[in-house]
Amino acid sequence: MTPILEVRDIHTFIGQFHILEGVSVSVASGGITVLLGRNGAGKTTTLRSIMGLTPPTRGSIQFEGNPIQGKSTHAIAQMGIGYVPEHRAIFKGLTVRENLILAERKTGDYARKADFIFELFPDLKRLIELPGGNLSGGQQQMLAVARALVPDNRLLLIDEPSEGLAPVIIEQLIAAIQRLADQVSVLLVEQNFRVASKLAQSYVIIEEGHSRVNGAMNELVGDQSLIQRYLGVA
Ligand SMILES: Nc1ncnc2c1ncn2[C@@H]1O[C@H](COP(=O)(O)OP(=O)(O)O)[C@@H](O)[C@H]1O
Ligand SMILES: [Mg+2]
Repeated sequence: MTPILEVRDIHTFIGQFHILEGVSVSVASGGITVLLGRNGAGKTTTLRSIMGLTPPTRGSIQFEGNPIQGKSTHAIAQMGIGYVPEHRAIFKGLTVRENLILAERKTGDYARKADFIFELFPDLKRLIELPGGNLSGGQQQMLAVARALVPDNRLLLIDEPSEGLAPVIIEQLIAAIQRLADQVSVLLVEQNFRVASKLAQSYVIIEEGHSRVNGAMNELVGDQSLIQRYLGVA
């Protein structure tokens, strides 16, 4: 089956720094792929390159078979890719409802998606009239993911959703991401290896701006030497 997203050998500069020096990533339609790698490896830059925020200078990116490299971030988002950056970018002074309405691409998106969103994140329904800034870290993360579900996105890029969250909240988030993956494909960045291995069917390891290895997650889980070498976790 053709992948929903095919990133081939992209190179990205930030200022004069050559940050990505050959990253390839394939995301299966209907699946969750995780980008793994140590701090500073280039995972966030890969997501930002896909969104055109730090546009690649070489290589190609195809979404649903159409080239997207060189397009504006706005155009890429319009095509159906949602981006949930690190650190929960929500509007803290606006209510949960207002945050969701502002995520609409077309009028009525929120109304059509509300049932699905509240099924995934029941807390958000209860907190709907509270300012985003009054939510706990976990609830803010749920709101950040929920915002990306308001428009008809077919692919979500989610950067380190579990970072800094308590284990019980992480479990809720895992369950929600598993559920939403029935509707939308996901490219995830996740430093917590246990979370990554629960969620993803496939992985790509990035090291110093290069994608080094990829394959099925269940094979990586059994390969201690690969995990040690690239991730430094037992
Ligand atoms: N704005 C920037 N200016 C210079 N270097 C940057 C900038 N953003 C990221 N980098 C560098 O790019 C590399 C990759 O960063 P990043 O993609 O954030 O890594 P990761 O998400 O894997 O931790 C790091 O070495 C980082 O220092
Ligand atoms: Mg990062």
